[in-house]
Parts: sequence; C-alpha cells; structure tokens
Amino acid sequence: MIPKLPILDDVDLGKLKVLVRVDFNVPLDSEGRILDTSRIRAHVATVRKLLEAGCAVVLMSHQGRPGEEGFTQLKPHSEILSNYLGIDVRFVEDVMGPAAVSEIKKLSSGEVLLLDNVRFVSEELVEAPPEVHARSFLVRRLAPLFDLYVFDAFATAHRSQPSIVGFPLVLKSVIGYVMRSEVEALRRIVNSDYSPRVFVLGGAKVADTLKIVENLSKNRLADRILTTGLVALVFHAARGGKVSEYVLKVLEDRGLITMVPRARRILLGGAPVDVPLDYVVVKNDGTVDECPASAIVGVPMDIGTYTMQMYSELMKDAKLIVMRGPAGYLEDPRFRAGSESLISSALRSSAFLVIGGGHLGALVGDSAGERTHVSTGGGALLMALAGEELPAIRALRESARKFFNWSDS
Ligand code: 3PG
Repeated sequence: MIPKLPILDDVDLGKLKVLVRVDFNVPLDSEGRILDTSRIRAHVATVRKLLEAGCAVVLMSHQGRPGEEGFTQLKPHSEILSNYLGIDVRFVEDVMGPAAVSEIKKLSSGEVLLLDNVRFVSEELVEAPPEVHARSFLVRRLAPLFDLYVFDAFATAHRSQPSIVGFPLVLKSVIGYVMRSEVEALRRIVNSDYSPRVFVLGGAKVADTLKIVENLSKNRLADRILTTGLVALVFHAARGGKVSEYVLKVLEDRGLITMVPRARRILLGGAPVDVPLDYVVVKNDGTVDECPASAIVGVPMDIGTYTMQMYSELMKDAKLIVMRGPAGYLEDPRFRAGSESLISSALRSSAFLVIGGGHLGALVGDSAGERTHVSTGGGALLMALAGEELPAIRALRESARKFFNWSDS
C-alpha cells in the first residue's frame, strides 16, 4: 500500500527556510558536460512553488558514485537550474562545513542555494535505518538550520541514506511535485479501478524483472505481462519445448541460465506471461533477418513484426499500461523498431501509461501527454514494482505520524 503523504500544498510555506532533497544525478560526457538536463528540469515546479511562497530554498543532491566516472561537483547543475528558473542559483563548494552553514544562514527569502554533492560526505554512503541516520552528523548539523524538509528525489527513494531517510525523522517533512506524481503513478498501478492492466517488461535486468513478475502475479496486479528483451528469452527456455540453441547460448553467455528454474516456477504459479512470437536476429554472416521464436537462427536483437502486432492488440483495451526496459538493443538503430512500436501502440490506447524512465523515456520524448507518466526512477521504480516498501516512503510515513499526527499514513 502507498501511504498518504503530506505534500507542499498541505503546509503554510510563508517565508520558511527549506531543505529540498532533489535528484540532479545526470549523465555527463568525458569532459564533465551535462548530457541530459531532464532530471534538473523535473524539479523546477517544486522550487518555483517554494520561491513564490517566499521561502529560502537550499537544494541537496548527489551526482554519481564514488570511484566511478560522473562523481563530480554540482556547479554545472546550478547553472542549468539558473537558466530554467531565470534567477541566479547560488552554489557552495561544501555540504555541511563552515562555508555551507554560513551560506545557508545568510540565504534570504526568494533565494536558492545548491549545496555540493552530498556523496562527498562519507555518512551518505552508508545504508542504515532512518533511526540511525537521524543521528548522523550530517542531519544533526544541518537540520537545526531549517523549518521544513521537502523530499522530491523519487529516483533515490530506494536508498536508505541520511539525506533521504534521516531528515524526515527530525524535521517536519512533505513531498514535492516530482515525488507526488511518482506516488500517484504507483497508486494507479495497485488500484484495481484501472483494469485491464498490461505490463510490458524488457531490458537487461533479468533478476529484477523476475522479482517484479513474481510480485505482480502474487498480488494479481497484472492481467497480461508482455515480455521482451532478455527476460523473454528466459521465459522461452522456462516454457520448455523446442528452444533454439541461439537462445540457450545467449542465456549461457550472460550467466542467465540459472534464472530459468525460477521463471518456470513463476509460469507454473499461473503468471499471465506472454513471450514474443518472432524476433529480429543477426545471423552468423552478419545479416539481419526476422524469424519465428520457434526457429531462431541468429542472435535475437529485437522483437519481430508479428510480436509488435500481437502486443499492440493486447494493449488496445488496457486501462493501465506499465512499460519498463527496451524490447531491443536500442544503441543500434536497426533494433529500435520494437520499442518504438510498443510505445506508439501504448500511446494510441486509452490507457494511463507509466514508463520506467531511462531509454524508453527518451523514446517517448515530447509525445508524452496528460495520460503518460515518465518515471524519473530506475532502481526505485523497480523496487516499488517488486512490491517492496521504499525506505524514503517509510521515513516520510513516520514523519507524517510525528509532525502531522497522521495516524492513517
Ligand atoms: C539513479 O540514477 O537511479 C539515482 O540517482 C540513484 O543513484 P544510485 O543508484 O547511484 O543510488
């Protein structure tokens, strides 16, 4: 169940000093230039609302992971946000040291400050329960400087780190507009009024996807689960009968053959799983061809024409469609048609469409309308679809009990 959580509009925001956890974790090129600004743009409505109410707004985000490329400072992010907001977003090269504290104290109504990458603080790299993180140095040092905490970083909601779960236990907390639309989309997914419900699951994260299928099946959340990508190959093998040696080779090469018994148990449990009828393959001589699933003669790279038609037909009357993971190898334009066709079929239906960010979100582009929700979350969406409570939601639920006296949360 997704609890009711207080949102920005539930509090009198007049001139508060507000800490907002955003997710500005964006892809960067080798020179550190931002390649996609959509995650920054997503938070503009929340920040604007706070500024219009006269708040002094301090933003906190991570960028990348220590030791990996893309683990950098947030100065370029502040410049992008300045452009979107049309006002100067100050940046301080510090998270909780004297420079940050002094800037936070100086910040006036209607001003915005972005702190540096919160993962520069070692505590932020530790996964621990909210009660532990509420006592972290980061939280004890910064919380007294604020009147309100706003959580807007859905894409981090599966992490149990101090900036995500620590502040809600010690500060009055609400969710921002990004988080609100993500929570609403999750509610629709578990709401039986939206029926029939069709899930289209592909991509390369097979273990995560099997967990989702298990949850959907156990809780009867899906009327159809249309599989594509590697997970579909696992289900082909799990169904038995004649399985192409190419399929088995892909599964062996990717270390996925061990997933087959689990997929078989899912099928035997009665999960409504469909597999593709045909595939676009690359043959041994390098040519590209289409062949039926029962006679695959090459490495499968995308779903074929019959599958596109069948899946389109199965989506036609859906009231909710959830899509996660591409149907083919999108990096190569020859193998994009499957994903593109699934998206346009879903958009043609009258269903509310939830798209699991990343690659598919980019394919939707500007065609996303009122009835489409492109999630900002990767791991967070997977965890929610797999039926697990997100640590951020747990902490916010506790916070609502404590600061709003919301017993039904
Ligand atoms: C994401 O990109 O999924 C979020 O920003 C979380 O990043 P993480 O996987 O490094 O915690």
